[in-house]
Amino acid sequence: MTIEITDQPLQQIERQLRQLLDTHSRITLHLLNPDYAPGTYAGEMIEVSGRHYRYRSLRTWMEFAELLECRMMLPKPIDEHRISLTLYKRENDSFHQKIVTQREEKYGNDSHFARIHKMEEAAFLHYYLQALRNVKVENRREILNLGINRGDEFKVIENMISQETFSQMHLVGIDHSKSALVKARERFSPSHVDLYAHDINDLASLKLPKADLLISIGTLQSPGINYKPFLMDLVQNHLTENAALILGFPNSRWINGEMIYGAKAPNYAMSEMSLLFNDVMFAKKYLQQKKFRVTITGKQYIFLTATKITSAINQN
Ligand SMILES: C[S@@+](CC[C@H](N)C(=O)[O-])C[C@H]1O[C@@H](n2cnc3c(N)ncnc32)[C@H](O)[C@@H]1O
Repeated sequence: MTIEITDQPLQQIERQLRQLLDTHSRITLHLLNPDYAPGTYAGEMIEVSGRHYRYRSLRTWMEFAELLECRMMLPKPIDEHRISLTLYKRENDSFHQKIVTQREEKYGNDSHFARIHKMEEAAFLHYYLQALRNVKVENRREILNLGINRGDEFKVIENMISQETFSQMHLVGIDHSKSALVKARERFSPSHVDLYAHDINDLASLKLPKADLLISIGTLQSPGINYKPFLMDLVQNHLTENAALILGFPNSRWINGEMIYGAKAPNYAMSEMSLLFNDVMFAKKYLQQKKFRVTITGKQYIFLTATKITSAINQN
């Protein structure tokens, strides 16, 4: 099925494609090559050889494909001004739907989750690096990561600072997935990186030193964690006076090889963000009361970064 796109408004195209996708798994669009008029806003009219086109960038088409639950293939040139762009209906193969028998291994080495490498997604890596720079990670000495999995978040720290500084840090990672920790142990020296297969609800029994940086991404909202009291206990009992926090909250789903924007919410077919906003705002208000400066950034993952207002580390 091929459709010619010229000056139709997006609303009309949206209606047509939604109807067609009910019965077709693949649709090809012939449209104006976005490179023909860079710097043009979506919707501006462009005339080419007497034909009128409504301009849209490649980014707009990619986003449109995602919202239509399609995978967009690499566009191919048709002639000097037009390209052909094919959309395939996305299969709903998601790790969110996988049934797991052992709760601790939902994110283990044999899970669908193990195929996901967040640090290879630009929109994740960018905001994580920004958060690490915000907290001046190179000045931190005692770093605690809850939900460390195979250790990707520590690897990024190791790669962004000198080996000497990294080896002077004491890093502690905790996860209840034993298989993920096997992977993590292969990646770090036990001389200064301690990895515990342990339930983070029971941090106290590990008798850890207080951390001056806490990192927890995609973990605090897990079932089995009572988010609000858990966060308060962390701040009150497991962090130093001048500690910083980096918390990552998923605003996306991983489906069929792609990181799809929008939080997954119980009882909704669509993505819905009330829970996400509630949890992020709770952390922000609570940490502000405790005299932290809090920033919220990110896209498919929301990063909350908190630093102590009076901290010497932050004034360097
Ligand atoms: C969504 S994954 C995130 C992993 C990693 N931080 C990342 O962003 O890729 C959540 C991690 O937290 C761990 N986890 C969840 N609940 C836990 C608990 N109560 N105790 C210890 N680990 C837990 C899971 O095993 C998993 O590795």
